[in-house]
Amino acid sequence: MVGRLRVVRALPTLRRAVTQWRGAGEKIALVPTMGALHGGHIALVRAAKRRASRVIVSIFVNPAQFTPEEDLAAYPRTLDSDLSILAELAVDLAWAPSAETMYPRGFATRVVPAGPATVGLEDRFRPQFFSGVATVVAKLLIQCVPDIAMFGEKDYQQLKVVSRMTKDLELQSRIVAVPTVREKDGLALSSRNAYLSARERAVAPTLYRLLKDCSARIVSGQSLPVVVAEGGRAIESAGFILDYLEARHAETLAPIGSNDEGPIRLLVAARLGKTRLIDNVAV
Ligand code: PAJ
Repeated sequence: MVGRLRVVRALPTLRRAVTQWRGAGEKIALVPTMGALHGGHIALVRAAKRRASRVIVSIFVNPAQFTPEEDLAAYPRTLDSDLSILAELAVDLAWAPSAETMYPRGFATRVVPAGPATVGLEDRFRPQFFSGVATVVAKLLIQCVPDIAMFGEKDYQQLKVVSRMTKDLELQSRIVAVPTVREKDGLALSSRNAYLSARERAVAPTLYRLLKDCSARIVSGQSLPVVVAEGGRAIESAGFILDYLEARHAETLAPIGSNDEGPIRLLVAARLGKTRLIDNVAV
């Protein structure tokens, strides 16, 4: 059903809607996004709709998680088409605050996560990133008070950071993980895929293929350090610049040295030209 979507930009309006729903005993799901919606976000919305009677999608390109060299200004902004996608999906409310609403003059507090946020994966390459994410997600969870909030496994370390923070701060929401949505050729959907040239786009699915290869070799009992080292070299031979390929404990993200210390998650970040891709698979 199209047309029920409410687009809200002011906090008092959001609070009124949420209070009314809670009063009526409705179950509320939040799907935090930065917009430029694609099939990955849509899977999160569908999963939210299956589990809750009211769905809020937030659209906010969060300045706090970009560094000055990163692509805040260039980040794709497609609000009109995002809103029509959400209306089509019969989302109840789009929470689209301005930067001034989220970070008013004088704003001076940050959530600084440790644990999974400081294990030397994304945090090694993007030092401010997880405190920016944790700060905005804490605010969104406090603003919307959802029963559940949906996060993609595509951003696996982010999922673990947000889950840990929600527990540690005793926020009253349950974090729900949604599997990665991929193109037919295996490339994980991402708004950054739009930056790939045709040649890079043809190479990009190799990342997932090599992750799957590594996973299969580990399952078959081959030595973990050897598989990871060879996997990293294969990714570089395919034309990527490798930031990391690592086997980590799937829950704590702690480094592991052998096949029996699992459950294992393989995580990768690699650059193709100017585009940085991340992906991960279970072993
Ligand atoms: P964004 O990149 O817009 O992603 C929003 C949500 O969609 C995240 O939970 C992300 O993991 C999920 N997602 C992205 N691509 C996906 C895919 N291919 N399959 C499944 N899920 C996918 O992640 C952020 O925004 C921000 O950091 C945010 C959490 C909103 C905080 O600003």
